[in-house]
Amino acid sequence: MLNHHKEDTIESVLKEKRIIHPPSTFSANARIKSFQDYEKLYQESISDSENFWGNLAEKELHWFNKWDRVLEWDPPHAKWFLNGKLNITYNCIDRHLTSSRRNKPAIVWEGEPGDSRTLTYEELHVEVCKFANVLKQLKVTKGDCVAIYMPMIPEAIIAMLACARIGSVHTVIFGGFSAESLKDRLKDSQAKILVTADGGFRKDKIISLKSQVDIALKNNSSIVEKVVVVKRTSESIAMEHGRDYWLHDLQQDISDNCPPEIMDSEDALFILYTSGSTGKPKGVVHTIGGYSLYTHITTKWIFDIQDTDTYWCTADIGWITGHSYGVYGPLSNGATSLFYEGVPRPSNPGCFWDIIERYKVNIFYTAPTAIRSFIKMGDDIPKKFNLSSLRLLGTVGEPINPEVWMWYYEIIGNEKCPIVDTWWQTETGGVMITSLPGAISSKPGSASLPFPGIVPDIVDKNGDNVPDNTGGLLIIKNPWPSMLRNIHGDRQRFEENYWNSLSKKSDEHIYFSGDSARRDSDGYFWILGRTDDVMNISGHRLGSMELESALVSHQAVNEASVVGKPHEIKGEDIYAFVTLNNGFEATNELISELKQHVVQEIGAIARPGTIQFTRELPKTRSGKIVRRFLRQIAANQNIKGDRSTIVNPDILDELKEQAQLHN
Ligand code: WT7
Repeated sequence: MLNHHKEDTIESVLKEKRIIHPPSTFSANARIKSFQDYEKLYQESISDSENFWGNLAEKELHWFNKWDRVLEWDPPHAKWFLNGKLNITYNCIDRHLTSSRRNKPAIVWEGEPGDSRTLTYEELHVEVCKFANVLKQLKVTKGDCVAIYMPMIPEAIIAMLACARIGSVHTVIFGGFSAESLKDRLKDSQAKILVTADGGFRKDKIISLKSQVDIALKNNSSIVEKVVVVKRTSESIAMEHGRDYWLHDLQQDISDNCPPEIMDSEDALFILYTSGSTGKPKGVVHTIGGYSLYTHITTKWIFDIQDTDTYWCTADIGWITGHSYGVYGPLSNGATSLFYEGVPRPSNPGCFWDIIERYKVNIFYTAPTAIRSFIKMGDDIPKKFNLSSLRLLGTVGEPINPEVWMWYYEIIGNEKCPIVDTWWQTETGGVMITSLPGAISSKPGSASLPFPGIVPDIVDKNGDNVPDNTGGLLIIKNPWPSMLRNIHGDRQRFEENYWNSLSKKSDEHIYFSGDSARRDSDGYFWILGRTDDVMNISGHRLGSMELESALVSHQAVNEASVVGKPHEIKGEDIYAFVTLNNGFEATNELISELKQHVVQEIGAIARPGTIQFTRELPKTRSGKIVRRFLRQIAANQNIKGDRSTIVNPDILDELKEQAQLHN
């Protein structure tokens, strides 16, 4: 079940024996102070989980009307806090206005060119209400979908909150996606309005967003009625009369009074697209009540944010991490959440440390791929900065190599900051497996233990338990408040993809994560990677099929098979095996053209690292391409495994030989 490069991971992490305990000074002030406290909380959460979640919902959130029932579980369909009425923006903004938090910065933002902006809770309230009134003026009503395709600027966050304020459903589309990807997502979500910007700044360049929008909407009058454009770069752009509007024009004389819409707990909050093992991205649907509670409480207990803290999650709001731990979780807790438009780049490799020093960031949450790129740049870069404000570090997105963990701990955290390695997914809405910084000791490379209320397990492909320290499929055995409710417009895919993947035991309904993991004898979970044809490139999920479809859409390509190849910084890189149509020659120019074609079809994050031409791909008798062998070839490993299942085994040696030229 585990393919070879994953077995290597097991061997290396099996050797990991270091344990790092929470510093006693941290534990003393933490919300959850000891392992005993965690165990007690966990036991409570499992023995009567409805009571546990019900109490928290009552204590931690404001409801206009209390729910009748905590949970209705009709597997795999769950409803949380039935008939409860709330608005997530009331919890994220309004309730902080009656205390001293009113004048506390909610959002601290810095643009890549160095401009900056701070919005207090009071100012955020005004901006969200104004934006919400703009949406209303454009006839957006409860339940309508609004797409947001933006750089990381305050208006992007304001737009999300404005949607939630009036009960419309947002779908944020990462600003790095191409016109093609944008179009697919706009169509699937049936978004009525698109909020965008003229462009944004990234890696010392202007990224033109509006021009991508124009391509996506060209000859497509059936998608998106109106486009709202935020001025960011001031480059010249085309505005289509009757379709495109500048935000600043729409906001002239707009009222800043917009009471929150009373929403049902199970109304949709947002759709967020993510990659699966088929070509079509999945629109993961999250609903308001359960998501509000789970992101609130995980932020509070995992990041342990105190009122004086400045908290920084580096994820773009185009991903779930930005949604849950950039925007909703921190704001619900009344925290100061920092956002940065740019990313580290050769001209400014120390920009993250510079921001931490200048804003005195206390809690910092980023991805292993970023940490690996910092290691490569050298220790002297972070050492030039004063990072002493930091008291807690976090990672997310992919397994962190123990050595990378140690570097983060020693060089960035100065051996005084606990590190939380948080395992979760777009579908889970919030963190599922993690350490708690004051209570649970860390083992570098392990995501540690389940969050209260979560029951993960490791099973084989029949759904049977596997012994400790053996790799298997990571599953979740119980419903949790922020679980996905649906795949937008595809209930069948939701049911089959996540819940019916294992041969069914009569009364068991388990959530299938798509990851493999092992549990050690202390109950710690070690995530090993995906078991499906989904790759993790710099912490971004991309499906093999999506990439293959993009390649095959080029006239020169006959067939393509795409696998992940281990990569020092990115974790995995894209390796494509391609056969050509008659009349096309395997040249270096064609390689560059195909790489560029994929960027155009999907976006820059999908640029293949390697394209290897071949006359044939290894196939089974039924014509299925066997990616297992291709993974070994891409990883420069010896070919192992039963070749008898393929009809053209000779091609393997040929591919291996030619692969040397690429490695
Ligand atoms: C996949 C989900 C939600 C976080 C951002 C990515 C991998 C995520 C970890 C971790 C090992 C991790 C898994 C998962 N992953 N966090 N701490 N350790 N692997 O969200 O795009 O939905 O991807 O990211 O493979 O299935 P996503």
